[in-house]
Amino acid sequence: TYREHVDEQAVAGDLTDVVLEPFSPQFKANPHPTYAALRDHDPVRRVTLPSGLPAWLVTRYEDVKAVLADPRLSKDVRRFPDPGRYLVAADLRETISRHMLNADPPDHTRLRKLVSKAFTPRRVEALRPRVQQITEELLDRMAPLGRVDLIDAFAFPLPVTVICELLGVPVEDRDEFRVWSNVIIEGVGAGDRFESAVRAMDKYLRELVEAKRRSPGDDMLSDLIAAREEGDRLSEGELTSMAFLLLVAGHETTVNLIGNGVYLLLTHPDQLALLRSDPGLLPSAVEEFLRYEGPAETSTLRFATEPIEIGGVTIPAGEVVLVALASANRDGRRFADADRLDITRGDSQHLAFGHGIHYCLGASLARLEGQVAIGELLARFPDLALAVPPEELAWRPGTLIRGLRELPVTYSPR
Ligand code: HEM
Repeated sequence: TYREHVDEQAVAGDLTDVVLEPFSPQFKANPHPTYAALRDHDPVRRVTLPSGLPAWLVTRYEDVKAVLADPRLSKDVRRFPDPGRYLVAADLRETISRHMLNADPPDHTRLRKLVSKAFTPRRVEALRPRVQQITEELLDRMAPLGRVDLIDAFAFPLPVTVICELLGVPVEDRDEFRVWSNVIIEGVGAGDRFESAVRAMDKYLRELVEAKRRSPGDDMLSDLIAAREEGDRLSEGELTSMAFLLLVAGHETTVNLIGNGVYLLLTHPDQLALLRSDPGLLPSAVEEFLRYEGPAETSTLRFATEPIEIGGVTIPAGEVVLVALASANRDGRRFADADRLDITRGDSQHLAFGHGIHYCLGASLARLEGQVAIGELLARFPDLALAVPPEELAWRPGTLIRGLRELPVTYSPR
């Protein structure tokens, strides 16, 4: 079996191919046995990233948490030993890479503070009626069809519409930047397709900023442009990079919270029945979806500014560290019965949103969207079911994202 295969390799000390082979459907179909083997046999492992670059992969909950909180691990791409190997072409670095997730304090603090007020739980709660409205419109459109790809018809357009409205990005352009965003997130550092998607996104954002400068609106991008104009709080590159980060984060993550959550319910009928009988479980169910099959499979890259010991292994200065959030969240050392989906668990100490200063800025928004979307979907379609056997579902490639390419579902048309 696959499990035995993985265990054998783990014991033999040769997991590299299985672990981070991006186009290995075998791993992406179910990475959890590989992660379990790594946690037991090689919890801080030197691997080769899909891009061919070396990194250390950390898989245990406590080690992952420690890495994410360690200020000796830097996110500042300009300080990476050989930035060209990890990043986009130099001429694009200034316009899309200068964002908070690529910065250390004090830059990180300054950049995050410029937008953090818009994402507090209270401000996000005020968005609930609009999130509800968009959800209902999408469900109305789905209702007569009886069968859809739920990613395309629902899980994708909801978060994208919300982030576009917040930022002030024309939602009609979404099909265009969906393609760029997907390519970028799946293949960081992976050749021409990646490079041209980044260029297209960069051009689009610079033109958008220029248009907003001429005619500002009541949106975050216009506010950021005003902040840029007022003083030295934000450089031009930081402005476009901020838009880039928020747009991509708003595109690639919540879609998979909704997609993975619905997939988990449809493949765990007991949990689905429980949630249908008690919708009050929705918030705790969403936390469990985040833990069990969270949208961010790994963190972004960090590098050691000095030699650092993690779980008994010394990472030399200048080397890159990647944490497997999906693995930390299934660690039996932290979660009882970790491989069991239990929507009543009510333990939200999972690391699906990261940890430390880069803890997800959009966590409250993602939770709100996930809860509204899944709650309304179940209420609207009492006989929602998978349209294909679960084994036929394909997972998206790449190490960053855990999400389905498509999620075909059926329900009685109404
Ligand atoms: C950071 C996950 C939704 C904006 C992060 C990180 C994770 C994460 C794991 C930390 C990455 C690292 O430290 O390497 C998720 C998940 C989401 C989600 C699982 C959905 C379920 C969103 C949304 C937005 C957003 C909707 C935007 C509005 C951000 C930003 C950061 C971030 C700006 C960087 C924060 C910083 O560097 O201080 N997210 N995210 N996220 N996320 Fe999210």
